[in-house]
Amino acid sequence: MTVKAIKGAIFHLLDDPETIGADQATQYFADGMLILEDGFVRACGKRADLEPGLGTGAEIVDHSGSLIMPGFIDTHIHFPQLDMIASFGEKLLDWLERYTFPEEAKFADPAHAEECANFFLEELLRNGTTSALVYGTVHKESIDALFGAAYKRGMRIVAGKALMDRNVPEAVRDTAESGDLDSRELIEKWHGKGRLGYAVTPRFAPACSDDQLTRAGKLLAEIPDLLMHTHMAENTSEMDWVKTLYPDAKDYLDVYAKFGLLTDRSVFAHCIHTGGEVFQRMAEHGAAVSHCPTSNLFLGSGLFNLREAEKYGVKVGLGTDVGAGTSFSMLQTLNEAYKVSHLKGHALDPYKSFFLATLGGARALNMADKVGNFEDGKEADFIVLDMAATPLLKRRLKTCTSIDETLFVLSMLGDDRTISHTYIAGECRYSK
Ligand code: GUN
Ligand code: ZN
Repeated sequence: MTVKAIKGAIFHLLDDPETIGADQATQYFADGMLILEDGFVRACGKRADLEPGLGTGAEIVDHSGSLIMPGFIDTHIHFPQLDMIASFGEKLLDWLERYTFPEEAKFADPAHAEECANFFLEELLRNGTTSALVYGTVHKESIDALFGAAYKRGMRIVAGKALMDRNVPEAVRDTAESGDLDSRELIEKWHGKGRLGYAVTPRFAPACSDDQLTRAGKLLAEIPDLLMHTHMAENTSEMDWVKTLYPDAKDYLDVYAKFGLLTDRSVFAHCIHTGGEVFQRMAEHGAAVSHCPTSNLFLGSGLFNLREAEKYGVKVGLGTDVGAGTSFSMLQTLNEAYKVSHLKGHALDPYKSFFLATLGGARALNMADKVGNFEDGKEADFIVLDMAATPLLKRRLKTCTSIDETLFVLSMLGDDRTISHTYIAGECRYSK
């Protein structure tokens, strides 16, 4: 057995601070220790309490002066959109036609997919993201490449090939049958291998025929630990389109629900132009929202109402939504989530912010029994934050007098430079 003892300041969350209160939900050890056994958390607490019980064989890793926290969990990101991030001028539907689909067509080439997959995962690690729910393209090769690269790194990644059999260019179109067969082949090959999981991934209702959505629902019902990952209610033109395509559906969510895609394993990105009773139904079914503020602002899609979703008890995680999102950094994503919440009438509490980026994301992806905090037995995915990453950050953090203030400043001023190390299952996979 390999034992490691990690020294440093430690912060993590045991629960949602808005549900049970910050005192119960948060743990902060200014002089802390995280003890790992074979890549799993065995203890987390004050160094003075844990150090005396350490055996002589433990490897000591000293991150004193830095802040250790669980790795970030990105609940919605597109790995094939790397090379068209920051594309100018369009809103969702034109952005898809003009930039996204031509870029995604390149992933029919496995060599291109493999090169992008490796870059993508390194970029996640560089930004402190240890788990993600990832879109591939329509090509099964894209997901083969991503899973192969994630498996090599031991990362907990959930992904799926996009299902899209109508209203998209031919180069990125499958058929209901081929999409189903390709998904099944990928599930057979990768689902449950190492730390990998599969998500049935209809691109969004306008790009999927009834036959395709029916098969997606059947597949989801057949295999009990698959996730379902899609987009919903992101853009007003998209909303109008869905209404035209499905005149009999009560609303956008109802389209997915009719095909068996509204479940406690379903993750819906965006959910901006909706609320009230739709959130109520999502909560009743245990479905999750991925809140993607940098993307929603970049594409001019709108402002997600986090407060409203929470009022109904919907699970919420944060997503970067690269390449509509403008940053891989969950710290930058928290920055914009704060501003969006402010515009919606409430200031997002820093404890809540870091909950969304860690344990909340894990809950949204149904993996909170494995990652998201430092409870005993969890997989030891964690990051080390450099409190002097930039001159301004160093200067501002010196004035902080509490951990919540420190966390808030990190979420406003932090980015990839703030991540000094990223550990996957107890192994350092990135250091600055
Ligand atoms: N809706 C359907 N496809 C996409 C996509 O690739 N990105 C975003 N942001 N929304 C979508
Ligand atoms: Zn997206």
